[in-house]
Amino acid sequence: MNFLITGGAGYIGSHIALMLLNNGHKITVVDNFSNSNSSVINKLESHTNSEITLHEVDICNQEDLKKIFQTQEFEAVIHLAALKSVSESVLHPKKYFHNNVYGTSCLLASMKEFDVKKLIYSSSATVYGSPKYLPVDELHPLSCTNPYAETKLLCEENLKEITLQEDGWKIVCLRYFNPVGAHDSGIIGDDPAGTPNNLMPYIVNVASGQLPFINVFGNDYDTYDGTGVRDYVHVMDLAESHLQALNYIGIKAIEHQEIVLSKKIQTKDISIFNIGTGKGHSVLDLIKTFERVNKVSVPLRFSARRSGDVSVCFANTDLSSEAFQWKAKRTLEEMCSSAWSYKKKLL
Ligand code: NAD
Ligand code: WQD
Repeated sequence: MNFLITGGAGYIGSHIALMLLNNGHKITVVDNFSNSNSSVINKLESHTNSEITLHEVDICNQEDLKKIFQTQEFEAVIHLAALKSVSESVLHPKKYFHNNVYGTSCLLASMKEFDVKKLIYSSSATVYGSPKYLPVDELHPLSCTNPYAETKLLCEENLKEITLQEDGWKIVCLRYFNPVGAHDSGIIGDDPAGTPNNLMPYIVNVASGQLPFINVFGNDYDTYDGTGVRDYVHVMDLAESHLQALNYIGIKAIEHQEIVLSKKIQTKDISIFNIGTGKGHSVLDLIKTFERVNKVSVPLRFSARRSGDVSVCFANTDLSSEAFQWKAKRTLEEMCSSAWSYKKKLL
């Protein structure tokens, strides 16, 4: 089967790509390399000894997208292409609405025209805003505290709308919590350009000596050690959830796994699932675990809370485990060790 992965050269997309290749599928990647580069594709090809069809295309370019759909057939689309920095979205909201929302509508237009109506969409726990209760389930009220979150929510709304307007769509929105870690092979991982915003890549850059210390944003939260708590999920578990989600919409993406469709599922055109571990870990947990498993030092300083941060957020994952038998398996230790193994290969 051939799958189109938008944003397939990025952190999460490359892990999904590798998993699909390892399950014997063909993949086509559309990426404009705004936050990645083509070397990732070369690594995936040589690691799996297979060829990837690559289009250096911006999803906002309707004509270029159309040409791709004209020349190839796809079983489904996994749509990850988006800009993802919360702070940048506050500075440049228009850029984020154009890239993420208009880009998604261009993709949907091509999918509709060429009758490719199966889609896995990368959404985010950021659509829940500040949690009103924990763990956060999919029925939790939605609220946006920044333009990036708004783009994710608007795309979800557009996807719901399209399933109401027209029959035949099968769409799954996956709301990721905090993806971290790297592939077992150590060939791909999270390697943001410039100074990282997110916790794990920052820790990694301190451990490598590229940054002198990490600022722990706030130690006065109402949590067990005063630092913020999040649901960190291993990127390989997260990537696996996409293959399970494909199975859920009737596509046999995993070798040796039969399709199990319940009646409830067959009647649904769009479904939304949380993708996390269901466990919360503090900033200090992550730093201390990283130091312990990797036998490295990560100097820290406590600093003021980061504006816009919530105190605690972790997922209720009952729905995804019930619907498509997905559960995150990997531990915090594995998240920390894989992130460091990947980084060491880059040094
Ligand atoms: P990433 O930046 O590593 O990957 C995104 C990829 O999309 C990059 O390769 C980038 O070059 C590409 N891209 C961006 N805009 C494009 C466009 N207009 N046309 C073509 N390609 C484009 O990010 P990631 O962490 O892999 O995130 C993937 C998806 O998951 C995004 O949709 C993001 O919003 C979502 N998500 C990420 C996280 C996270 O913490 N990493 C959490 C929740 C949701
Ligand atoms: C985690 C914890 C920080 C950096 C963001 C987006 C969200 C989603 C995932 C895309 C918090 C603390 C961090 C640092 C720190 N992305 N921290 N020092 O904020 O939960 O979520 O990424 O959809 O939309 O908002 O993740 O990794 O930035 O922060 O103390 O240098 O680490 O305060 O408690 P966050 P994060």
